[in-house]
Amino acid sequence: MRKILFVTSEAHPLIKTGGLADVAGSLPRALLKLGHDIKILLPAYASVLIKADAAGLKKLTQLPIHGQDISILQTRLPGSRVTVLLVDIPQFSERDGNPYCNPDGNDWDDNHWRFFLFAKVAEAIALNQANIDWQPDVVHCNDWQTGLVPALLTQATALVPATKPATIFTIHNMAYRGLFSHQAFAEMGFPQDYWHHEKLEFYGQMSFLKGGLAFADAVTTVSPSYAQEIKSPEFGCGLDGLLRFRAKDLSGILNGIDMDEWNPGADKLIHHNYNRRTINQKVKNKTHLQAQLGLPVSETIPMLGFIGRLVEQKGVDLLLEQMNQLLMLDCQLVVLGSGFDSYEQALTKIAQQHPNKVSVTLGYNEDFAHQIEASADIFLMPSIFEPCGLNQIYSLRYGTLPVVHVVGGLRDTVIEAVQNSQAVENEINDISNGFVFTKATAEDLHQAIKRALACYQHPEKWKKLQINAMKQDFSWEKSAKLYENIYEKILENSMAA
Ligand code: ADP
Ligand code: GLC
Repeated sequence: MRKILFVTSEAHPLIKTGGLADVAGSLPRALLKLGHDIKILLPAYASVLIKADAAGLKKLTQLPIHGQDISILQTRLPGSRVTVLLVDIPQFSERDGNPYCNPDGNDWDDNHWRFFLFAKVAEAIALNQANIDWQPDVVHCNDWQTGLVPALLTQATALVPATKPATIFTIHNMAYRGLFSHQAFAEMGFPQDYWHHEKLEFYGQMSFLKGGLAFADAVTTVSPSYAQEIKSPEFGCGLDGLLRFRAKDLSGILNGIDMDEWNPGADKLIHHNYNRRTINQKVKNKTHLQAQLGLPVSETIPMLGFIGRLVEQKGVDLLLEQMNQLLMLDCQLVVLGSGFDSYEQALTKIAQQHPNKVSVTLGYNEDFAHQIEASADIFLMPSIFEPCGLNQIYSLRYGTLPVVHVVGGLRDTVIEAVQNSQAVENEINDISNGFVFTKATAEDLHQAIKRALACYQHPEKWKKLQINAMKQDFSWEKSAKLYENIYEKILENSMAA
């Protein structure tokens, strides 16, 4: 049994903007199940405090940090026995909007300071200086918002390294490097030599992400393929050199999913439950959704789904570029997402012009996401890069066959055994579960969609693919054990040092 502090800026169901929240809400539960004493450390955003109040909230302690009194509150992750510690400062608790942006969609201009204070609290707990009588063996950090934690711990324990818990940093997305000015760095009180390209400096700016990459004892990312890709200039976002340097400490562990929350057999958010044996019933969800969205109701028209942040990463350009060709095919498209204005506008316009074929819902809607997963026949995920991707995994679980660009975690989860136009003529083997394309072009995406639509016309083959997809085990058990192995390895190394 190890004591683990899991530091994250999101955790479902308390706060979520993307897949990080799903992981932070489910991996700790799997680690708890394995017998570990795990606590999540999370900012006390206003919306989190409201939900935590319902789950039970108490104040543990108060710390003076950089002239500010910071409270640590304690609650539980709803629906679990995992303890959550909340860092309560007005910069988190007294603001509307999402964790990183104001209601206008711009980054909060003190993000560097809010997440620096968050990291300082993690440091205090890690060094048993927070008066909570609990010191972790391992501090597990996630993404740039927590990147300063390994750097602060290295700095604080430079003279007595034995007092430092082992640190692991998980990259969920290299594209967000947490870049701020030199002025921000200067305010934080790091020693001057931390302003160096091997430490926190990145081309004249400060990078929080680099704090994790350069200083953590182990660096992981959320799929084996992405762990390879980020060592190359194409995917490394300017940090590939550092990752190549850290190659022996870098590995990829595929995300699991919460198999209870995403379970078509028991999902309370969908119209009609079904499982592998009753897969024929899935279509009831489709006709229900068609009626709800005002689309022509038909069991046989294939429905394509897309859910996600409307940002470049998700391949929205490819989707838009082949839209005219797609609209000529006999299918429906249901989109749920929010993000860049230009994408939102382009998609809305298409839906207005083609109300019988396309439905676009802007915004964030967890319930609707479940309904699309249950209703669609095909799920589109043409991401340009994808560290892991959870939506394609949810789709597999719901028998909604994914069409994906073969990159990162999409490569590690979706398999199309024969990728040519003759695929339909071949027997479906036991591992194929979707459709993949290799070049990130609209044309390749479109060809893959056409292969999927052609295959859809062969119900027996389609069903075989669905069953292959639904049979797969994406529970956290296996991946949580891989994290456990890394914890043990870094603890061993730190004891030997
Ligand atoms: P990323 O973390 O890059 O956004 P993932 O596929 O890992 O991508 O995870 C996305 C998560 O966010 C999924 O749980 C997905 O259902 C959810 N999601 C994304 N956009 C929306 C939305 N507009 N409404 C509801 N859920 C969404
Ligand atoms: C990030 C990535 C996504 C991954 C998620 C959870 O947001 O973009 O690919 O699934 O984190 O690890």
